[in-house]
Amino acid sequence: MHPPLRIAVLASGRGSNLAALIAARDDGTLPVEFVLVASDKAAAGALRLAENAGIPTLALNPKSYPDRPTFDRELFARIAASGADLLVLAGFMRVIDGAVLAPWAGRIVNVHPSLLPKYRGLHTHRRALEAGDAEHGASVHFVTAELDGGPLIAQARLAVEAGDDEETLARRLLPLEHRLLPAVVALLAARRLALGDSGVLLDGQPLRAPLRLGEHGLQ
Ligand code: GRF
Repeated sequence: MHPPLRIAVLASGRGSNLAALIAARDDGTLPVEFVLVASDKAAAGALRLAENAGIPTLALNPKSYPDRPTFDRELFARIAASGADLLVLAGFMRVIDGAVLAPWAGRIVNVHPSLLPKYRGLHTHRRALEAGDAEHGASVHFVTAELDGGPLIAQARLAVEAGDDEETLARRLLPLEHRLLPAVVALLAARRLALGDSGVLLDGQPLRAPLRLGEHGLQ
């Protein structure tokens, strides 16, 4: 058995992915200790969820800092001070300076609502619809300096149906994200995933294609 992984979470919004992680911890499927939930928005629902769960919180306002690198340095110094082993980006809506990311290589993951490498950045549901895609989905990947561009770990897929709009797609995708992210963090907590020089390693072997979320979890 490994000691529980200490995780910090960065979130800018309502925090439903954070809630899914906390629920997985509570039902015994995710052996982690939450050491910090931090946000760039003092009003973020994620911070309230964390407070209610007894997790230490931090709100830092980017406007109080002269520039992005200074803000990111402060934020990441606080995250390092929390003792986190892993940092999870769960709806953190800011670009992060590459310099602060470097020491965290292989220890930061992000959940993104598209089948990366398609649709990095914003408005992913709209862009999938506009492209006429038959499938949409969500991805969890290791974070690098390239926005939504780091090595893919796992994806959840969703069929686009006639009549779908951004809202219906988002509504069907979110519950998949809520299974996908805890499943990936569970692999990390079991020390089964790593970022090697040429990509993601699962149980020490190169992962040739992202894992897929199926009925019974990742496969
Ligand atoms: C999710 O769709 C996530 O993939 C994206 O932002 C949304 C955050 O939702 N990056 P929540 O704050 O976790 O509810």
